[in-house]
Amino acid sequence: MSKTARFFEMKRRGAPIAVLTAYDAPTARAQAEAGVDLILVGDSVGASMLGYESERDVTLADMRHHIAAVRRGAPEAVVIGDLPFGSYDSPGAAVASAQSLIEAGADIVKFEGAHLAIVEALAGASIEVCCHLGLEPQNHLEKRVKGRSATDASKLLADALALDGAGMKLLVLEMIPEEVAAEVTRAVKAPTIGIGAGRNTDGQVLVITDVLGFGPKNFRHNRRYQNVGQIMVDAARAYVRDVHDGDFPAEENLTHMAPEELELFLR
Ligand code: KIV
Ligand code: NA
Repeated sequence: MSKTARFFEMKRRGAPIAVLTAYDAPTARAQAEAGVDLILVGDSVGASMLGYESERDVTLADMRHHIAAVRRGAPEAVVIGDLPFGSYDSPGAAVASAQSLIEAGADIVKFEGAHLAIVEALAGASIEVCCHLGLEPQNHLEKRVKGRSATDASKLLADALALDGAGMKLLVLEMIPEEVAAEVTRAVKAPTIGIGAGRNTDGQVLVITDVLGFGPKNFRHNRRYQNVGQIMVDAARAYVRDVHDGDFPAEENLTHMAPEELELFLR
């Protein structure tokens, strides 16, 4: 059964689709409870959770590990899994890698770039595909806005239309001008999900660690809803202080023996 039908319906109604990334079970559970429409297990896991230098360091095994955790935390959620760098060098490799992510718990797979033969191969294997254009972190090592010139915008629009014709079911548009994202969104049948792509896409996605404020750096495209990085430091510091001061554990944190057992024990 199609996992993306609901998003086509939302696009038709003009109801914005709210997407967040998640990489672990408790975060996925919280997002499901909060009513997130779609969870993306992105290869952003590498930089945001695993301490890797780059998206390119993320492996298929990493993606399977995190997709499985998200699936356990949110059994009913619709989950997109990213095909990592190097896992879709040919249509055949893409299908095998996608099947591996689906086996781990993904409903939909995403990859970067205008590779029509890959969309066709995945669609042919009954796998729903999310494409990803604009800034492609696996391919563009310099993280800046794409599609600013008329030439680049036209190329992006043409790529999106071709992928749409090949059967993509969702399209992530990353770091492009609002006008370009609006035009692509109008032109393609598939729902578009923007990040740093303005207000006129069919949905929005943000990286959960950016939303929660884990890192020292904020991005213009992001909205920080919490400062969890600071909360983590504060909680750890308070715990360390309590242990060092002998304030933890306290009476309410421990168990005593029954007096008669204690007497027998110490006799
Ligand atoms: O990996 C990721 O989190 C992504 C989003 C930024 C779209 O691909
Ligand atoms: Na990604």
